[in-house]
Amino acid sequence: MTNIEELISQARTEFAGVGDAAALEQAKARYLGKSGSLTELLKSLGKLPAEERKSAGAAINSAKEKIEAALEARRNDLRRAALESQLKAEALDITLPGRGLSSGGLHPVTRTLERIEALFRSIGFEVADGPEIEDDFHNFTALNTPENHPARSMHDTFYLENAPGLLLRTHTSPIQVRYMEAHKPPIRVIAPGRVYRVDSDATHSPMFHQVEGLWIDENVSFADLKGVFTDFLRNFFEKPDLRTRFRPSFFPFTEPSAEIDMSCVFCDEGGQPRGCRVCSHTGWLEIAGSGMVHPNVLRHVGIDSEKYIGFAFGMGPDRLTMLRYGVNDLRLFFDGDLRFLSQFR
Ligand code: DAH
Repeated sequence: MTNIEELISQARTEFAGVGDAAALEQAKARYLGKSGSLTELLKSLGKLPAEERKSAGAAINSAKEKIEAALEARRNDLRRAALESQLKAEALDITLPGRGLSSGGLHPVTRTLERIEALFRSIGFEVADGPEIEDDFHNFTALNTPENHPARSMHDTFYLENAPGLLLRTHTSPIQVRYMEAHKPPIRVIAPGRVYRVDSDATHSPMFHQVEGLWIDENVSFADLKGVFTDFLRNFFEKPDLRTRFRPSFFPFTEPSAEIDMSCVFCDEGGQPRGCRVCSHTGWLEIAGSGMVHPNVLRHVGIDSEKYIGFAFGMGPDRLTMLRYGVNDLRLFFDGDLRFLSQFR
């Protein structure tokens, strides 16, 4: 029965040669199928003489076992290979960095406002808020700017249609009025917020920010204003040698009034300004309005102007942000362009 051994080795070779499970099943049929070679051999047993039948049967059965074992081994090989190639094709490269969620960040002006708040809180100021839609009284009248006062024309005001007497606040100063209506001196407060004026170019936006400051007590002086504000600017810009100057000015709600200038943060070092474009080669930057609160303002809110006195100031945090980060166009803050904003993350 040498052809049985041949059959086995032929089956093994054939199984080894197939490339996938379907081909393997076809190959199997050629040996173990209904008319497969081995099955044919089994069928032919009956034709053998009885004495040969037993040993021939045993040989065929053992061949069948060997072929089945070879088949099973090849099945396993193919399964493993298929799995491996599938794993390779669908592989997750866990060494690749993830796409991730990019983290957001605070708007640069928000950063400035938080910084201003923290600096003033550290010297005992509270932070107050107020409505952006104001009435005439708080925005103007209580601030010593009566209806026909020429100072009203300093603001290009957005008035509300069909709502007489209501407007978008043109400054944060009405918050000091509201705060004084609600609190008794001593008062130390800053009021950050959005304000609105009809104005739009590279350094003016119809919506911008201000921070109002107010300190009222029995003996607050102009020297306190100078000290508090200069110290604030030095801390804000982290420039201990920053200088300020107070230029006489006019605001209806303060008397005397002053514009506050600071030495240019770009070109002034150790009191020696080199002069640059940002400060128009003057060495100074205009940074805030200020003054001693006018007694009429105190009277409007029921504070005894004989007993109490204090200072106020109003500054533009947008401009402070531009100076701190070297931004040259105010509109960038309000365009919402992520290429700009993400630089402040
Ligand atoms: N409210 C003024 C403005 O918008 C800024 C200002 C100036 C506020 C002087 C003050 C101040 O409190 O004392 O132009």
